[in-house]
Amino acid sequence: MSDVLIAPSILSGDFCNMEKSVRDLEKWGGDWVHCDVMDGVYVPNITFGMPMIAAIRKITQKTLDVHLMITEPEKYVERFADAGADIITFHPDASKDPSACIDLIKGKGKKAGVVFNPNVSVEKYAYLFDKCDLVVVMTVYAGYGGQKLIPECIERIPLIKKLSGNKIPVEVDGGINKETYVLALKAGADVLVAGSAVYKAADPADVIRTIRGTL
Ligand code: DX5
Ligand code: ZN
Repeated sequence: MSDVLIAPSILSGDFCNMEKSVRDLEKWGGDWVHCDVMDGVYVPNITFGMPMIAAIRKITQKTLDVHLMITEPEKYVERFADAGADIITFHPDASKDPSACIDLIKGKGKKAGVVFNPNVSVEKYAYLFDKCDLVVVMTVYAGYGGQKLIPECIERIPLIKKLSGNKIPVEVDGGINKETYVLALKAGADVLVAGSAVYKAADPADVIRTIRGTL
């Protein structure tokens, strides 16, 4: 039995009925609610901000895993914390001072992590790992759901484990589905994000069971 956690991304949910999208992922056996915040500057897409996090906070006890794809996240992390995020992750290459950004998140009593786009050096930001509660490996370029997993990114999972002395949980985000999840699990992933593979499935509960690796 694996103890991998599954974080369905509401980016692939129904924006006209977010409450149902959250209730569904609870019913299907999702562990965390992955919330993709995009600013149209760091990534070429815009999604939602703190009001959405606050609205979701009101209707669920699930861990809110807030993935910030925004420039200068340090300007906003405290407001995302106040809105009800439990975990706040950001892209260190988007921040003027990633270490201070982690401090701001932790100062609010929340869990903090850094996210690596495929073209961002893991080694360059490894000095942050001691302060991180988790690290996220992007297996697509951040910006859109429904992209194809880039297999070369998978080797970053054991690299991060090694650089952190095997202490840090690794979340994998992008292109995870019933075919690709094995790659991430074999590489040592602890948390899998899945958006389109869950929300667009005929049997989402089956997808979550499968990618958890319990079959
Ligand atoms: C991409 C987002 C992902 C995305 C995952 O920028 O960070 O979380 O929603 O969606 P799928 O699982 O469809 O690749
Ligand atoms: Zn994400």
